Formats: sequence, C-alpha cells, structure tokens
Amino acid sequence: MSRWLITGGCGFLGSNLASEALRRGDELAVFDNLSRQGSEINLAWLKKEGDVHFIHGDIRDPFIVEKIVIDFKPDVIFHLGVCPSNNCTAFNGMV
Ligand SMILES: NC(=O)c1ccc[n+]([C@@H]2O[C@H](COP(=O)([O-])OP(=O)(O)OC[C@H]3O[C@@H](n4cnc5c(N)ncnc54)[C@H](O)[C@@H]3O)[C@@H](O)[C@H]2O)c1
Repeated sequence: MSRWLITGGCGFLGSNLASEALRRGDELAVFDNLSRQGSEINLAWLKKEGDVHFIHGDIRDPFIVEKIVIDFKPDVIFHLGVCPSNNCTAFNGMV
C-alpha cells in the first residue's frame, strides 16, 4: 500500500488520479484550494468513492505544504494543483 499526495486533487486530472488511488486501496491525501469551478463537486464524488484525507489550502503557502508532507508522509506526490486556464476564481497568474 502506498501513500499518495495529490495537489489539485479536485481538478479534472487530479480527481481521476485520486479515484484510481482509492480503487487500488492506497492511502490518499488531496490538497486543493477549490478555486476551480466544479472542484467541490469532484471532491464530493471522491468522498463517495472512498476514504479521502482532504486538505483545503494553497500550494503557494510553503508552511502548509511542509506540514502536509511531514504529517501525511507521502510515498509519492503528484503535483496537479495549478490554474491551467483562467477558470479558477483565485487565478492571479502566479501558479
Ligand atoms: N486536462 C488535460 O487534458 C491536461 C493535459 C495535459 C496536461 N495537463 C496539465 O495537468 C495539470 C492539471 O490539469 P487539470 O486539467 O486537472 O486542471 P484543473 O483546473 O481541472 O485542476 C487544477 C486543480 O488545482 C487546483 N488549484 C489551482 N490553484 C491552486 C493552488 N494555488 N493551490 C491549490 N490548488 C490549486 C484547482 O482548484 C483545481 O482543482 C495542468 O498543469 C495542466 O496543464 C492537463
């Protein structure tokens, strides 16, 4: 069993990857600021799929990122927490 940390885990790619982690029976932590429209819906779907450890936060905050890594101790980190287009309410061009 592996421990997966997925940033942007409530986005299009992230939520589908998270679903795969749950299907495999792996431990899953999802980190997302829910800035993408529809991300709350993806989170609700994931919670129905299995046991999701959800952390609401911004990837640009180094302290919360460090805390997650120390607390959750992931084996693998998938970094998909980005704003690929301006479909995020918090988009400011920094990510
Ligand atoms: N969707 C595709 O077909 C595709 C194809 C190739 C590459 N990619 C790349 O994969 C990555 C993810 O794409 P996607 O389609 O899943 O995007 P998406 O917008 O669906 O998901 C991004 C997620 O990141 C979250 N997020 C945004 N800014 C954040 C921040 N500062 N802190 C924490 N969370 C934040 C959003 O709320 C959202 O849930 C991007 O880099 C994209 O360019 C996507």
